[in-house]
Amino acid sequence: MSDLPEHIVIIMDGNGRWAQRQNLPRSAGHQAGVKTTRHIVEHCVRLGVGALTVYAFSSENWKRPEKEVSFLMELFLRALRSEIDKLHKNNIVVRFIGEVESFPENLQHQIAAATEKTGNNTGMTLNIAVNYGGRRELVVAMRRIAELVQDGSITPDQIDDQLITRHTWLNDGVEPDLFIRTGGDHRLSNFLLWHLAYTELVFTKTLWPDFNAEELDKAIESYAQRQRRFGQTGEQIVQQEGDA
Ligand code: IPE
Ligand code: IPE
Ligand code: MG
Repeated sequence: MSDLPEHIVIIMDGNGRWAQRQNLPRSAGHQAGVKTTRHIVEHCVRLGVGALTVYAFSSENWKRPEKEVSFLMELFLRALRSEIDKLHKNNIVVRFIGEVESFPENLQHQIAAATEKTGNNTGMTLNIAVNYGGRRELVVAMRRIAELVQDGSITPDQIDDQLITRHTWLNDGVEPDLFIRTGGDHRLSNFLLWHLAYTELVFTKTLWPDFNAEELDKAIESYAQRQRRFGQTGEQIVQQEGDA
């Protein structure tokens, strides 16, 4: 097993608490969070990670106060505008997963522009999960698959893991190796329910604006020390590593 995860996924949590601890409005925490995201993306590129998937806005986050939601929409728009050239220069392929159709039009436009501009790049893939919900992703996938069965394109026994993965939003089949959640909570919050089946989980109390390259290195170190057995015994894995 390589020590470096090919695909890292992150729940970037704790912006609000970071701000509140300093008597700042929650918006200041989100702003600081953007900076952390930029540093972590750059660090992943430096390390040679294949794909990074970050949870920026969940389908449940619409329930937040109107003021916070509209601030976040503005912030995404500004961040995309200001970061896209650098992302492109870094040869990053930017993709969005989630129902972007619900976003304000100017944001949708920026999302489409970023996707198109970086589409032919060959470096790291950056998947940004926005208006993303893991259950919603599966509902949408199942509806599409049901249509395929209904119109006779496939038979029910052709439905397998690969087919389902191909119909999810994160559909390139690069399974997440390492999951990190900042902010101290131990839950998935509806993130990547299908794809996390065998992902190694790391939870840290560090709030997202305080997360940095060293913390990411620590998570990768923890990952590198684990034995991923995928149902097999430890002895089988040692044997296979010896054979390789
Ligand atoms: C994560 O930080 C960012 C988003 C959900 C958009 P939070 O805003 O959830 O921060 P806490 O969890 O309230 O501290
Ligand atoms: C998950 O964080 C979503 C993002 C980080 C974008 P939340 O802060 O929304 O999760 P809960 O509500 O605490 O589970
Ligand atoms: Mg939170």
